[in-house]
Amino acid sequence: MTRKMLIAGNWKMNGLQENRTDFQNMIDGISPSAFDLHDVLICPPATLLYTFSKMAKGSGMLVGGEDCHPAASGAHTGDISAAMLADAGADYCIVGHSERRADHKETSALIKEKANAVLQNSMTAIVCVGETLAERKSGNATEVVTQQIRASLPTAATAKNCVIAYEPVWAIGTGVTATIDDIAEMHTAIRKLLHEIGGEALAAARVLYGGSVKPSNAAEIFAIDDVDGGLIGGASLKAEDFNAIVAAAG
Ligand code: PGA
Repeated sequence: MTRKMLIAGNWKMNGLQENRTDFQNMIDGISPSAFDLHDVLICPPATLLYTFSKMAKGSGMLVGGEDCHPAASGAHTGDISAAMLADAGADYCIVGHSERRADHKETSALIKEKANAVLQNSMTAIVCVGETLAERKSGNATEVVTQQIRASLPTAATAKNCVIAYEPVWAIGTGVTATIDDIAEMHTAIRKLLHEIGGEALAAARVLYGGSVKPSNAAEIFAIDDVDGGLIGGASLKAEDFNAIVAAAG
């Protein structure tokens, strides 16, 4: 079965109005055939989402949110609902990024509620999972990721509305990438788990790798059997790097 690759950029808390130029350079620098072959997505901070969705119109570039609140609306000062992101033009929304699990003490149960809200607003959820260095060293990486997936997946998850991003915490923003063997082993385990949870239909979901993906290592990571693209942080901020990563997807 061939799965369409998803190359997704996560801008995190980076990006001002002046960075519209970088986004425009991404749109202009990616070939129409790459936009046809793959899904290409940038998740900017919420302050840029509406502007970026307007800029992306008609280009093939997709935009998404970095997080959302599980409720549709209400007294939640400073939060943003999935409906608001969809209204601003988002096609996707990341949930459960390890920075949110760590900085905001988000639990898998909360992440599942957020993912449910993403689906209810007709967007695709990118559910992030990944073990810490201590968990890997103690031999518990697969167990931790399995538990996170079981508890964080939205109730109505399908291969169409849900993407898993495996991001070992120790590889995020550190320049250290997991080895090809480690990535392959984890992605195979995730695929098997998705099959266990939802049969063939869910096992066809895309599983991305994230953690220090850059132009120099993207091609060999994307060539791994069960890797269906990447979630890219630092290297998604510069058009030159992000476009090279998209090109590495073939
Ligand atoms: P990085 O971040 O590419 O900067 O390591 C990846 C992520 O956090 O999604």
